[in-house]
Amino acid sequence: MNETRRAILEAIAGGPVSGPALADDFDISRAAVWKHIEALRDADFEIESGPNGYELADVAAYNAPAVEFGLEAPFSIDYHDSVGSTNDRARELAAEGGADVAVLADEQTGGKGRLEREWSAPAGGVWVSVVTRPSITPAQAPLYTLAAAVATATTAREAGVDARIKWPNDVVVPVGDDGAYRKLAGILTEMEGQPDRVDWLIAGIGVNANLDAEELPEGATSIRDEAGDVDRRRFVQRLLEEYDRYRTDLDTVVPTWRELALTLGQHVRVDRPAGEVVGDAIDVTESGALVVETDDERVTVSAGDCEHL
Ligand code: BTN
Repeated sequence: MNETRRAILEAIAGGPVSGPALADDFDISRAAVWKHIEALRDADFEIESGPNGYELADVAAYNAPAVEFGLEAPFSIDYHDSVGSTNDRARELAAEGGADVAVLADEQTGGKGRLEREWSAPAGGVWVSVVTRPSITPAQAPLYTLAAAVATATTAREAGVDARIKWPNDVVVPVGDDGAYRKLAGILTEMEGQPDRVDWLIAGIGVNANLDAEELPEGATSIRDEAGDVDRRRFVQRLLEEYDRYRTDLDTVVPTWRELALTLGQHVRVDRPAGEVVGDAIDVTESGALVVETDDERVTVSAGDCEHL
């Protein structure tokens, strides 16, 4: 957004300002003021014109100018109306040396899920991938995934959704009391590094936000269906603030994960590379592994697909 347009927006966000006053303040013609106002309206800024001048009523939009104006995140923002996958775009930025940047998109045309699954990501969701360069070993990386899940569940709860976590990092909404759920959000973490240090890490977070559950895969739900639409700029801002908080205070991640877990106490089947484990999920370790009590032993599972039985 050009500097004058941004300054006009900031001026009218604080209350009504007349066209002549704006023209004087920014040393431009009244016709130029009008052009800026119209361009802002075209970009979905809701600007009222009353007897005292122009006033910014609302920024309902989720587009590049709105995000640039109204999203103050602890990461720099790379916004796209449409992109293949925000994780892939984040990988490009990481390869170029990028750090502490969040890639956002209204729509993904090739969203990626865990285990090489596709991730449906139509316009209206929150699709975000955060690139960081943490000073950790690859073995500590799962904690970042849990941090993203905790941040997502916390932000969805603020939006009025009963969001819980299914191990390891699905954000779900319980249906009844027997461990059944619908999936609200998923996390896909990717990283590159050496055996002893991570070079970059991408936390890809997909939240079914302002979408009808009907247009999503079976078993999914959305914030719209659970609690009504959210202002996605504010939602993303809170999500990024929470992720930043947990990734810089890793000791708080597992305790909060435990509080939000739907999986603990459930009878589960975990599909893992070393074979299937069936038993009661009784705890999660400090590194995020699930402890399952079977008929004759306790098994600690660090990676796998978990099903509540
Ligand atoms: C899962 O399978 O549960 C993980 C889904 C992760 C989806 C998000 S959407 C933003 C980011 N970009 C992608 O292509 N995937 C992740």
